[in-house]
Amino acid sequence: MGNFFDKTVDRKNTFSLKWDCCEARFGKADILPMWVADMDFQSPPEVIEAIIRRAEHGVFGYTEVSEKLSDALISWIERRNNWTIDRRWVLHSPGVVTSINTSILAFTEVGDKILIQTPVYYPFYSSINDNGRQLVVNSLKNNNGYYEIDFEDLEKKLAEDVKMMIFCSPHNPIGRVWKKDELDQVAALCLKYNVLLISDEIHSDLVFKEYKHIPIASLSQETLNHSVTLISPTKTFNLAGLSHSSVIIPNLELKRKFKDTLAKTGAGMLNIFGLEAAEAAYTRCEGWLKDLILYLESNLETLTQYFEKNVPGIKVIRPEATYLAWLDCSALPVPAEKLKAFFTFKAGVGMNDGITFGKEGYGFQRINFACPRTLLMEGLQKIEKAIAKL
Ligand SMILES: Cc1ncc(COP(=O)(O)O)c(C=O)c1O
Repeated sequence: MGNFFDKTVDRKNTFSLKWDCCEARFGKADILPMWVADMDFQSPPEVIEAIIRRAEHGVFGYTEVSEKLSDALISWIERRNNWTIDRRWVLHSPGVVTSINTSILAFTEVGDKILIQTPVYYPFYSSINDNGRQLVVNSLKNNNGYYEIDFEDLEKKLAEDVKMMIFCSPHNPIGRVWKKDELDQVAALCLKYNVLLISDEIHSDLVFKEYKHIPIASLSQETLNHSVTLISPTKTFNLAGLSHSSVIIPNLELKRKFKDTLAKTGAGMLNIFGLEAAEAAYTRCEGWLKDLILYLESNLETLTQYFEKNVPGIKVIRPEATYLAWLDCSALPVPAEKLKAFFTFKAGVGMNDGITFGKEGYGFQRINFACPRTLLMEGLQKIEKAIAKL
């Protein structure tokens, strides 16, 4: 049997944002989509079986989360991150972005300042702006392709009456897995200035071998009480269309507020297939994840070597986690504002334009390499050909 992840699955006409919306998003239908963060692989067979079993049951009424699912999640985090969670701290929601918006509504007021570290996943901006809160930006420092936190600037900004920090760990799009001393400093500053820490850890299961994810809440009792951790099986097991995520809030007063606010939005009811899939994933799919990470590591190696050898104008900022690589295209003879059009119309490849992640993304593109090797190679060759013609 060949490698599970080598199998190409036709995703066209499947309500796929990545594959069916290229005309609307890029102005060209016939491109190879290497953008939005889902994978072109099938989910683990155990997840598919659980969904089929549930579909065959044939009754799809209102849902309630069972303790079995919370326990599966707790055991997963204990095994993978060595963090012991009390079942009373756990809630579930239809998505991490829903949980970010809910946190903003529950824990801040209109006009309050919220800090993010840029470049960053673009809904961080819209969640703050759309809810009428003030955006405060702490730019990450790009030290010759290695991104670090500017702690001096972070302290200065947090001291200016910031109420909440939305932290991305591991970080999308620059792919850092924050080290213990970096996490310690972020946590200490948030505690010092009484800033509530919302830690988006959706990418925390997809960490490459030399690195280790540490949940920031697990650093100390104080951080535990002063943080909300957002996690989800959707990136890890490719379940984004099933709308499921979890929220860990050890401070029970904060948890109550979050729960009440989520209920007010009416978005608290969970998808029956998301629940089945999450439980199967957390209890039966660790081996699959191990194989997935090996495959992603080897795709990353292929991508990095290919650009080094054939397209030296593109520098890969090597991610320590996730299947998204941040490409520095500033050495190409294409103006930054024309990069997206160049890759779309000249190469026929759709990537995320760096500028959507913040001004620091000017001259960058984000490529999604979670696809079978044949598709990856097709995309890389298309890019190489278009650049050769410049
Ligand atoms: C950092 C980060 N948070 C949240 C999400 C989306 O989460 P959800 O689909 O659960 O709203 C993504 C998806 O790319 C992401 O990269």
